Amino acid sequence: MNNLRILKGSNYQEMSQKAADVIQAQLTVKPESVLGLATGSSPVGLYDCLVKAYENGKADFSKVKSVNLDEYQGLSPDNEQSYRYFMQKHLFSRVNINIANTNVPNGLAKDPQAECARYDSIIKNLGGADLQLIGIGHNGHIGFNEPGSEFPVGTHLVSLAKETIEANKRFFKTIDDVPKAAFSMGIGAIMSAAAVLLVASGKEKAAILKEAFFGPVTPKTPASILQFHRNVILAADADALSQFPV
Ligand code: F6R
Repeated sequence: MNNLRILKGSNYQEMSQKAADVIQAQLTVKPESVLGLATGSSPVGLYDCLVKAYENGKADFSKVKSVNLDEYQGLSPDNEQSYRYFMQKHLFSRVNINIANTNVPNGLAKDPQAECARYDSIIKNLGGADLQLIGIGHNGHIGFNEPGSEFPVGTHLVSLAKETIEANKRFFKTIDDVPKAAFSMGIGAIMSAAAVLLVASGKEKAAILKEAFFGPVTPKTPASILQFHRNVILAADADALSQFPV
């Protein structure tokens, strides 16, 4: 695929630095960038690198606007497991971003349909992301676009797949505490980003990465749609790339 650029790190730290360098370059070229942001284990290291860059005067977030991929339904912003909380903790409170310019779906929205429409109009009014950061689930999900029979286009309320609840239970006291539904940006918004930066590390991501980029394009593997994106950067460590046919 000639639309895929691979940044290989020998380990998580190196991968994180390379991914952070991409975001830093984006901010240098366009300080008023719209960044699509992700949560989970994969981007924690790169957020740390971005914070360091900010502290050293090498990254400026003052004009940045952001849209996050997703949020658990039912969790408030001050719930430690919410994605809004995650973003505050790992990035927003540590750099000079204007919180008013950051967007995460409202997990407490009473009317899910209205919340999805609201979020889509935010993305539309921002003109889409200049750079969309994503991770990949073991089942191939991007955002919380779970495997299914079609690619969901807009923001939607998702019933989380069993594998996702299982994978995310590590962040909760018990598996029963993991929310069963989440708001997720749709595949349409991810695909309309000017560039997509996917971060993945560890052996447990190797099989799904190979399937996503070299298997058939199918909603059964949501990340496979990236084969049709014109500008994908994959920052991964050697373990995650261990099944790549290169
Ligand atoms: C997070 C998100 C998810 C994660 C994916 C991988 O905002 O939308 O798609 O990127 O589940 O999670 P980690 O990085 O924890 O393996």
